[in-house]
Amino acid sequence: MNGLYHLGELPTQAVERLVQRALDFRRGVTPVKFPGRGLGLFFLSPSLRTQASFQRAAAKLGLDLVQLQGGGNGVWQLELTDGAVMNGGSVEHVREAAAVLGRFVDVLAIRAFSGGQDLALDLSDPIVNGFRRFAGVPIVNMESALWHPCQALADWATLDMLGVPKRAKFVLTWANHPKPLPHAVPNSTLAMALQRGMDVVLARPKGYDLHERAMAEAQRLAHESGGRLTVTDDRDAVEGAAVVYAKSWGSLAAWGDLAREQHLRAGLAHWCVDGDLMRRAGPNARFMHCLPVRRNVVVKDEVLDGPWSVVIDQAENRLHAQTALLERIFLDLEAQSKAKKSSLELSMKSSGELEEVRP
Ligand code: CP
Repeated sequence: MNGLYHLGELPTQAVERLVQRALDFRRGVTPVKFPGRGLGLFFLSPSLRTQASFQRAAAKLGLDLVQLQGGGNGVWQLELTDGAVMNGGSVEHVREAAAVLGRFVDVLAIRAFSGGQDLALDLSDPIVNGFRRFAGVPIVNMESALWHPCQALADWATLDMLGVPKRAKFVLTWANHPKPLPHAVPNSTLAMALQRGMDVVLARPKGYDLHERAMAEAQRLAHESGGRLTVTDDRDAVEGAAVVYAKSWGSLAAWGDLAREQHLRAGLAHWCVDGDLMRRAGPNARFMHCLPVRRNVVVKDEVLDGPWSVVIDQAENRLHAQTALLERIFLDLEAQSKAKKSSLELSMKSSGELEEVRP
């Protein structure tokens, strides 16, 4: 596996193997160690869970860790545009930054949210894709403008851990929030549930569709898995759900226009998951959220503190899922290094050079 940008790029069997390995780690199995190998973590956006869980995963795998924070007094401000005349605020081009970091570590993980101002730019996922182009080492996406594959992998592991059937009903519901949030988590959640083969309902108010490209990818995955997708603005669609997964996101129609966004979501404060909604879902329904979450805006205390919530187990699974993911990537790197060494030895032997360099 050469890094990970979006979970849906992996064959489903590969995802299932990672999930099984993650759940093994949760049960206490010890991962393979990779002494002398290096992992870089570069955060251009804030994080609690991703930061802490990648740090712990690196330690479990015996990796040297390089961690950098972007912005403020952290790393130099990056330029992303090819051919830019860099006489403004940007000090270093992603071409050099990525290539240099790629010389220090074997795998690089990047977090860079969407800017939320320029939709075309956000759809190009410029920072993570810049690193993928120029680093020369596998890149792990720790949440980009478009995808959050590590969250999706952990969420799949959580569903398996809880014994949620593959064909069960999974409701991804938009939720109220004071700010227009990026689409990476809802894009990845929708794709994950459909790749898993679930009966997925996307419940959102009018004006809060996900981007057509994310929807097309979700439909592709549903087609392959036999999953099913229904889109509705009816909150009663939670009935019979095994899982209610809440997330807020901004309107594509109001991207970069806060006044329009606020106008659109005025009157949507009732899109908050409460005990009534969970009871309507059914007696065994689970509540999921990627965290961080705004209590009593996105979800009521009674749900987060009640029998429905699995958000802490869900967060714990980030550690196990990422340990499994990194173990696979480093195992594949080791295999590639071995194959390269053997083929070099073979070609030197056939040209007689091996005998000359050996004492
Ligand atoms: N869910 C998630 O990615 O959490 P953090 O933003 O705290 O890393």
